[in-house]
Amino acid sequence: MGFPEDVAGAAETLCAAGEVTIVSHIDADGIAAEAILGQALDRAGVRNRSIFVRQLEPLAMRHVPKGDGSLKVFLDLGSGQQNLLEEHDLAPEEVLILDHHVSQPAGRNYRQVNGLPYGHTRLSAAGVSYLVSRHLDPSCVDLSPLAVVGNVGDMMARTDLQLVGPARGILEEGQRAGYIDLARDLNCYGISTRPAHVCLAFGDDPFIPGISGNPTLALSFLQHLGVTLQDRSGAWMVWEEIPFDGKRRIVSALAQQLVLHGKDTSRLIGEVYLFPHEAARSPLRNASEFATVLNACGRWAKPLVGSRICRGDRGGAYREAEHMLTHHRGIIRELLQFILDRGVTELSHLQYIHVGDRFPDTIIGIGAGMALSKLNPKKPILILGQMAEDPLVSKASLRTTDEMVRRGVDLQQVVVTASERNGGSGGGHRIAAGAFIPKEAEERFVHCANRILARQYADPGPDHC
Ligand code: C5P
Repeated sequence: MGFPEDVAGAAETLCAAGEVTIVSHIDADGIAAEAILGQALDRAGVRNRSIFVRQLEPLAMRHVPKGDGSLKVFLDLGSGQQNLLEEHDLAPEEVLILDHHVSQPAGRNYRQVNGLPYGHTRLSAAGVSYLVSRHLDPSCVDLSPLAVVGNVGDMMARTDLQLVGPARGILEEGQRAGYIDLARDLNCYGISTRPAHVCLAFGDDPFIPGISGNPTLALSFLQHLGVTLQDRSGAWMVWEEIPFDGKRRIVSALAQQLVLHGKDTSRLIGEVYLFPHEAARSPLRNASEFATVLNACGRWAKPLVGSRICRGDRGGAYREAEHMLTHHRGIIRELLQFILDRGVTELSHLQYIHVGDRFPDTIIGIGAGMALSKLNPKKPILILGQMAEDPLVSKASLRTTDEMVRRGVDLQQVVVTASERNGGSGGGHRIAAGAFIPKEAEERFVHCANRILARQYADPGPDHC
């Protein structure tokens, strides 16, 4: 069996199901994956309903129906929690997992479509969901933008600044059908919604001395180039709206600025995925900004609002999401500032901070990722937070960089091992992982994680602590 056979097998299983219960994750990839599959099932006439969970952990399993005869389809989760499915007494024939997380073996052999065993390391759950849905109904090509949003939301295009493997196939299919525009443009978040100088000042990949982190300096840099930055009414143009010649002059000046400071220019330009059917200046025009909208919905307990947006609602759901996005950005700014103000504690191979109950557990991972570029990028960051609904449980989020992953760091292995040894459970990826652990085990968990990391640097292999 190969990956295409797994995809075809999943589509057949779905076709044959009388009823489907989709259980999906609340992040951008999970919401996009749910919206793709839900719409494909509607089109195929298969009754379905969706449940969103923050993580597949014992408490969340209460929401997964038992003995109702429906096929339970786990999206963007499940591979790493097959033991929980088993404990919940789900039979192999009533489960299908479409995921991209590392598998943890269990006694029962559940059906899965997951690119990892086939070497497709950059195919998110929305990508898998799209491939299965497309097999179910070829008209689902109109859902390709959602697959791109899920992939980009899960950072699948970050390392290479482009989608690769099966995710690239999906992109090209959507492009051919006119649903996606692919451009090589500035590698900077916010090109569809932010004025050029703001966009540049917020970017840090690459960090451009004298521009990154400082909107005033960024503006005067651009003004010195004599490029028109405002439209006829005097409003700032967003980056996307600046005419090609202006962009070209800015990009070459930015490259010179990098060279002048002895920095690499290779990450200045990357691929950008735009959705031409969306309104100008809408965050939904651009895959990475669309993903932020979905993350804002999911992380603030409104994944169904995100799902409605994915299904085309540009009215009430979109307005609600706009409010959540503003709130989401404000809280993340606060979290980042809190981390930088308080400072992290540095261990030999890890830096960590406890943010208490100030921030929801669903966003501390985002803060960890953003803080890392402003702290020591050579040491993974671990953020601990207290769960509002259960003060005896703590959430841990870990993030590292591509470079550290290349040097042997594997955060998925760190959290799985350190949480299991300390009465918790966790999962994720080499570059980003999370866990729930007992509050009283926080200190032990942190030091165990540090020891495992030390061994990963020395000798990537099995760990004991
Ligand atoms: O929650 P956070 O953003 O830190 O999660 C990072 C990654 O780890 C995500 O892919 C998430 O699905 C995974 N994770 C997990 N099990 C947990 C917590 C997070 O698999 N208990």
